[in-house]
Amino acid sequence: MSVDLSEAIEFAMGCARSAGEIQREKYESKDLDIDRKGRIDLVTEVDLECERLITELVAKKYSEHGIIAEEGTSRNPEAEYQWIIDPLDGTTNFAHGFPIFAVSIGLVVGGSPVAGVVYEPIRDEMFHAVKGGGAFMNEVKIEVSKAEALKDSLLATGFPYDVATNPRNNIDNFRRVIMECQALRRPGAAAIDLVYVACGRLDGFWEQRLKAWDIAAGVLIVTEAGGTVTDMGGGRLDLYGETVCATNGLIHKEILGLLEP
Ligand code: IPD
Ligand code: CA
Ligand code: CA
Repeated sequence: MSVDLSEAIEFAMGCARSAGEIQREKYESKDLDIDRKGRIDLVTEVDLECERLITELVAKKYSEHGIIAEEGTSRNPEAEYQWIIDPLDGTTNFAHGFPIFAVSIGLVVGGSPVAGVVYEPIRDEMFHAVKGGGAFMNEVKIEVSKAEALKDSLLATGFPYDVATNPRNNIDNFRRVIMECQALRRPGAAAIDLVYVACGRLDGFWEQRLKAWDIAAGVLIVTEAGGTVTDMGGGRLDLYGETVCATNGLIHKEILGLLEP
């Protein structure tokens, strides 16, 4: 059964906007309920509330589709169409009132994203793409940057939650790349890092041990904006794989040359 992707993307943007409103209202609250999933991996009441809201809307509208969401909601794992949802990307930022976080919703078929939305509530910026249709921010077409060399590039990366215990923790990559680029940031929300590559605010981004919900929407938005997305070895991106590298295409080879695959 095929799906009308323009209807699906409008629907996804509506879901993201509703979840974003909750986040905008609560991000400065001093009495949030916060639990730990690991030593430094937080989950707040707002992650859970936003996941409940989005997954209920998806299950109601697309009852035969699958759902994979970060805080545990899972439905129809064999379905052809899978909604892959990070209800709040950037939870650590959110829990500290640091205003960089987003909602990420991707629609994936056979491991490839066909529609994606990343909504940043604080800036009220809605990024979206449908496969083959270009990428947009607040309905205006976006494109990747034109930087041709790392020395002219603003880059971003992130560190996995097991940074303190896993020797493959990205710190050597960070050290190598920061010596060669114009500047390197760690904003703390991978979905935003990706869409900032898509709209040219960043020239490139890489990270290890992200999950499909962090990247399903963002990688489609980057490629639809004219960028390149691979794994850190330069191979085809696997949404469920270990690594991701997204750039404007022009600096891709140079950055891969500095990263441990
Ligand atoms: C995290 C953010 C962060 C990245 C982590 C992710 P969460 O997602 O995207 O930037 O470095 O690896 O897990 O936990 O805030 O949804
Ligand atoms: Ca995330
Ligand atoms: Ca999350």
